[in-house]
Amino acid sequence: MRTQVGIVGAGPAGLMLSHLLAAHGIDSVIVETRERSEIEATIRAGVLEQGTVDLLVETGVGARAITEGAKHDGVQLRFQGEGHRIDFAKLAGRSVWLYPQHEVLKDLIAARLEQGADIRFGARDVSLRDVTSDAPVIAFTDADGTPVELRCDVIAGCDGSSGVSKWTIPESERTDYFRAYPFGWFGILVEAPRSSEELIYTHSERGFALISTRTPQVQRMYFQCDPEENADDWSDDRIWDELQSRVAGGGFRLAEGRIFDRGVIPMRSYVCEPMRYGRLLLAGDAAHTVPPTGAKGLNLAIADVVVLARALDSFFSTGSTELLDAYGPTASRRVWWAQHFSWWMTSMLHTHPDSTPFDVRRQLGELDLVTSSTAGATHLAQAYTGWPLDR
Ligand code: PHB
Repeated sequence: MRTQVGIVGAGPAGLMLSHLLAAHGIDSVIVETRERSEIEATIRAGVLEQGTVDLLVETGVGARAITEGAKHDGVQLRFQGEGHRIDFAKLAGRSVWLYPQHEVLKDLIAARLEQGADIRFGARDVSLRDVTSDAPVIAFTDADGTPVELRCDVIAGCDGSSGVSKWTIPESERTDYFRAYPFGWFGILVEAPRSSEELIYTHSERGFALISTRTPQVQRMYFQCDPEENADDWSDDRIWDELQSRVAGGGFRLAEGRIFDRGVIPMRSYVCEPMRYGRLLLAGDAAHTVPPTGAKGLNLAIADVVVLARALDSFFSTGSTELLDAYGPTASRRVWWAQHFSWWMTSMLHTHPDSTPFDVRRQLGELDLVTSSTAGATHLAQAYTGWPLDR
């Protein structure tokens, strides 16, 4: 089998890349280890930057994001029992949309299949070969057990933080920048009405909490916990006590309801450099991971493939590798902006196991400065709603 671009992974990066390439008449095949049903049911975060939504709409896959998603013109930072609104529309002239990642994936998968794309779900034993040659290969076993060798002009490694692509780059050629945080997020899904029109990011003495939403009837909430915490050890009453005490102040209370999903999410920052090795190009979580505090994961994957699709278009239409050579350096600029923003939001809002009274008092000073100064709030608003896409 052959294709122009072999894509490993049917997540946001892989699907969007295939979608953008198709618009340039470039052929791709996507190889994915999970089943379609699993991808479409896996719950992830749900904040889309303005630029991500604009791109979905302009390329014909944004209709449901607009009609079923919700536009948010601001968020609240809450500390010392009081809420402080960051007005995105006023400060940055941009907004974000709450629309879950798996819904974006459903829309992209449907659009790709409708255009006749070849997506191999349920593939096994995926490995990459000859990536420094002109004819790299994705070898895998098809869902029906057939061994396949997919010969490509270029391979895009879009297989997420635990995929095989980045490990194909020899250790001697790769730098792994990694940071683990000494806490995780305890996440729940709840059948309850909204407690707030906008997302609430809370700093409290007991630790961070985030009040988010999915639909008018289903809410998503998180609170900082030990990364080794077992979610099943917690009774519903204990979860509500913890959440209520973190957001308490001024009589504010969360609307409680039936908890129907729970889990602990690790918090990590990671970047692999370079993002290119021979004819292998990494995009999305395969190349970098951010902690969820800045809601940047999916958006960063989309930003990568915008740059990559343009580079591939130039490569296939002119034969020049100039833009392919520039892909990593170009994409990595935004990657490090997002790394900084995600680290900053995380550090500002969480309590650290070894923090001193000085550290906590300093955090409160920082939160006060960010929410009361126009320059501070504008920085947060611009970063959260997303810097303009490079297109
Ligand atoms: C979510 O709704 O799951 C969510 C929202 C904002 C974040 C992270 C997760 O920063």
